[in-house]
Amino acid sequence: MRILTGLQPSGKLHIGNYFGAMEPAVKLQEEGEAFYFIADYHAMSSTADPSALRENVKELALDFLACGLNPEKAFFFRQSDVPQVNELAWILSSVCPMGLLERCHSYKDKLARGLSANHALFAYPVLMAADILLYDANLVPVGEDQKQHLEVTRDLVGKINDLYGSETLVLPEARIRDEVAKVPGLDGQKMSKSYNNTIPMFGAQKKMRKLVMKIETDSTPVEAPKPTENSIIIDLYRFFASESEQAQMKADFEAGGFGYGDFKQRLFDAYWEYFTPMRERRTELEADESYVNQVLTDGAERAREEASKVLTRVREAVGLS
Ligand code: ADP
Ligand code: TRP
Repeated sequence: MRILTGLQPSGKLHIGNYFGAMEPAVKLQEEGEAFYFIADYHAMSSTADPSALRENVKELALDFLACGLNPEKAFFFRQSDVPQVNELAWILSSVCPMGLLERCHSYKDKLARGLSANHALFAYPVLMAADILLYDANLVPVGEDQKQHLEVTRDLVGKINDLYGSETLVLPEARIRDEVAKVPGLDGQKMSKSYNNTIPMFGAQKKMRKLVMKIETDSTPVEAPKPTENSIIIDLYRFFASESEQAQMKADFEAGGFGYGDFKQRLFDAYWEYFTPMRERRTELEADESYVNQVLTDGAERAREEASKVLTRVREAVGLS
């Protein structure tokens, strides 16, 4: 089985990215041949800052390795180190109806927010399909928000295979874990870089504590019992705390006598402890830039080998060779 996923280097990763995408990817590397990459071409649809792009790529590589991506098991590479993906994207483009892309949320959201979308943003799902299909991936672990892109990918496989033969492309499947499909942010909406409501995975202790203290709560007085339903604190705590710690927090909510500040402190402590081993690993990796670069260079080399096999097959099928 081939497992593949990509993450965009578009800013500091947060705990939603971790539980929605990275942790499942790290677990899955044990179950098959894994291809994990840094989607730097995709980031260009929303960034035009070369030094920020370079910096974000570096940070993402450190984050992913610190979280347990094992380069002995998974191929880890930069998307742009395998430029063949653009050729496959072009081939897919030529069977992709405009309407399919016009219906995509990421594009529609940008337009709705009054931004002028560029062609890269419009064509984003086609490049993403190419990312997946270039490696004959079977399973794609992603968060809920990427579901539509996987559907586009599957539609494109259907069109290509109908036109050029059923063996041309492999049909992938999304793996979306329900319980982590949507990690809430500080305001209770989906945690997202674009909503400015994130808790980063890594950051200075004081600053991170301050963020946790900003979680929105109601104005129930300290002495009174507090509602456990729809509590952002409880929803986040379950990611970091044991069953018994969670039960204790719920009981204390219901009993009254504890302020929200106290619960936030417990959440912060659990969060900080959870990421401590990864934080330490990240510090080691930061000091070893050449190791990180070597991992990406080796990963890209292997990825290019696989990509060229698939591309040879597709070029043949469509009549380019
Ligand atoms: P963001 O919304 O912060 O820009 P991305 O769109 O770059 O995040 O998402 C990267 C990966 O992390 C995707 O697989 C996405 O589904 C997952 N993800 C992002 N936010 C969350 C969240 N709040 N809960 C669960 N998964 C998430
Ligand atoms: N669109 C994904 C995101 O924003 C990143 C991505 C690009 C991706 N190519 C991919 C994810 C291929 C899975 C497979 O998170």
